[in-house]
Amino acid sequence: MEPGSPQPAPPGRAAAPRRGRLRASPGGGGFVATAQREQWSGRLGFVLAAIGSAVGLGNMWRFSYLAAENGGAAFMILYVFMTLGIGMPILLAEMVIGRGARRGPIGALAHFGGRSWQPLGWLFVAAGFLILAYYSVIAGLTLRYALHGLLQGFEGDAAAQFDQVSTGVSAVSWHLGFMAITVGIVMGGVKAGIERTALVVMPLLFVIVAGLALYAATLDGAGPGYAYYLSADFSKLLDPRVLTDAAGQAFFSLSLGMGAILTYSSYLDRSHHLPNESATIAFADFGVAFVAGLVVFPLIFALGLEAEVGDSTVGALFITLPHAFESMGGAGRVVGVLFFAALVVGALTSAISLLEVVVATAIDSFGWSRPRAALVLGVATAALGIWPALDLDVLGRMDYVAGNLFLVGGGLALAVFVGWIMDDPIGEVETGAPGVPWFALWRLLLRAVAPLVLAVVLYYSLAGLVSA
Ligand code: TRP
Repeated sequence: MEPGSPQPAPPGRAAAPRRGRLRASPGGGGFVATAQREQWSGRLGFVLAAIGSAVGLGNMWRFSYLAAENGGAAFMILYVFMTLGIGMPILLAEMVIGRGARRGPIGALAHFGGRSWQPLGWLFVAAGFLILAYYSVIAGLTLRYALHGLLQGFEGDAAAQFDQVSTGVSAVSWHLGFMAITVGIVMGGVKAGIERTALVVMPLLFVIVAGLALYAATLDGAGPGYAYYLSADFSKLLDPRVLTDAAGQAFFSLSLGMGAILTYSSYLDRSHHLPNESATIAFADFGVAFVAGLVVFPLIFALGLEAEVGDSTVGALFITLPHAFESMGGAGRVVGVLFFAALVVGALTSAISLLEVVVATAIDSFGWSRPRAALVLGVATAALGIWPALDLDVLGRMDYVAGNLFLVGGGLALAVFVGWIMDDPIGEVETGAPGVPWFALWRLLLRAVAPLVLAVVLYYSLAGLVSA
């Protein structure tokens, strides 16, 4: 436990911001925030919040469908390589920058690299805006399905239902509702808002997902479901599309490439063993993604709905699965509500981290108060999200640009930054983690391997954009 913050305590969670609380802008940017920066209460709080950021919609549906479409176990091998060889080193890089600088992305990059790196920080913040805007639309849908499932059950004609609720007034309303919850939590601050939420809901998510996987194993469709999910098609390993999907997914799932983990790490003290914590986060993230696949496919195969899979990933989540839950009667309703509740929880803790990047930047760089930053920027993001909520094509395009271009490009820049620009990254990690032997390997991965692989990925992603 570290001593309570010397600042006036952050105002109550969802309390409306009061203008009188605003601090004058420091003008120079940064020093107010560094002197009295908020902090996590300890290791567990930080790790769970970071896992909360990583585990989200990306794990619970994007991963399993990508795996099934892209050659099952073959995709998994590429994905694990991307996660271990590229994702984890960059995860550690973000943690080192954030903890060392104790600022949001813009201030942190300037701290270690000079002013010329600030624009990259702005790109990160822009990516956060963009991702949260459409992420919240899908998250709003999960909230809708969870509550409707609970109160009224799942609808028989899931496809017609989805057409009705996935765009238009309904989608906009649920998106706005979800954003309101996110803003309320971020307003509460690092400890009372973000950390407390993660401490409560993340264990719940683990229990639900594990329980559902055990249940799914008892279903008749379990065997063929697993086979569909995991069967290895190694010819796919040579397909550049699979490579870019694996890389984009690794970044998206680990919340990498736009400063989310960097920002969370800026609330750490220097005693943390960052390599251990980065490994914990990455393994938890992969674990949930893998197990979620063990839930999804047995369910679908148990009801013979496999023909419905594959049109679109969003469709599979909101049409095929609700259809399955509906056909399973009472048990299906319980399973379905739990499944969507886990999705809501995962999406919420991820959305919080996306908003926190933008909010921390406004606090650090403009001297805004937290409630003001959360409210103003939350409303701005919510407004941008109305567009994808009215048009699923827009949503898909935003996802492609954000995931495959911004995040991969951001990861490339971060690898170069820590590998080549930052003065003594190894010294930074060693604070709190003395004498870990593979730091030289880490640096090599950042200097050479990650930039090369990511440059190839970026090339194919751009080519995909042009040909789309
Ligand atoms: N990782 C989250 C998921 O898998 C999404 C997410 C949260 C994210 N924060 C992020 C993605 C930052 C990219 C960057 O659903």
